Amino acid sequence: MTTWIRRYSARERSNHWLVAISFVLAALSGLALFHPAFFFFAYLFGGGTWDRILHPFIGVFLSLFFIALAARFWRFNHFTPADRQWMKHIGDELCNRDERLPEVGKYNAGQKYLFWTVVVTVPTLLISGIVIWQPWFAPYFPVWLLRVAVVVHALTAWIMILGIIVHVYAAIWVKGSVRAMTRGTVSAAWAKHHHRAWYREMTGK
Ligand code: HEM
Repeated sequence: MTTWIRRYSARERSNHWLVAISFVLAALSGLALFHPAFFFFAYLFGGGTWDRILHPFIGVFLSLFFIALAARFWRFNHFTPADRQWMKHIGDELCNRDERLPEVGKYNAGQKYLFWTVVVTVPTLLISGIVIWQPWFAPYFPVWLLRVAVVVHALTAWIMILGIIVHVYAAIWVKGSVRAMTRGTVSAAWAKHHHRAWYREMTGK
């Protein structure tokens, strides 16, 4: 019989999925504004005008939901000396030779890097987005700053999109992880295999 261990509460999962949904909407509506090749995404939002109106508001919702998520998970993402060891053995992780890896706590070093990447990119997108937000805020800033902000906004968005693609890929690739964010539980075998130190902490074994 499978033993299940609780990994996320209902509040944590709802918060995560609100962030994920707003991220997908922000990314699609933003890509439509970035290049004509992606303009067809605008039709999901009611056409070009509505896409342009809605994109900044979706970004504000994403930022607010993300602040709550970051506050919940902040304390689990501090780097430890074991994380440095884990990074040195990243090849063993990718080739499923987990027995050669140091014991991992609630999150591995890769997950922590993703966490800190989004902690930097979300506020950068929010601040640069406010600077270029016509007609409300942009008129208060000099043209040179608007030009810098547009480039920073686009580059940061690409970093975040690539980071989240890796995040989603890893979540699907490590069998049993998606369940953690949908049902809130993981199997004891999953915890023991991927996050042994956290497994010991949770079970006292
Ligand atoms: C779009 C589809 C997404 C899927 C399928 C997905 C899936 C998952 C899963 C399965 C976990 C649990 C991993 C574990 O407990 O080991 C997780 C954790 C997490 N996700 Fe996502 N996620 C998505 C989008 C996002 C987005 C857009 C963000 C942030 C902008 C995000 C931020 C996080 C964070 C911060 C954690 C906790 C890990 C940590 O704190 O290091 N996720 N996600």
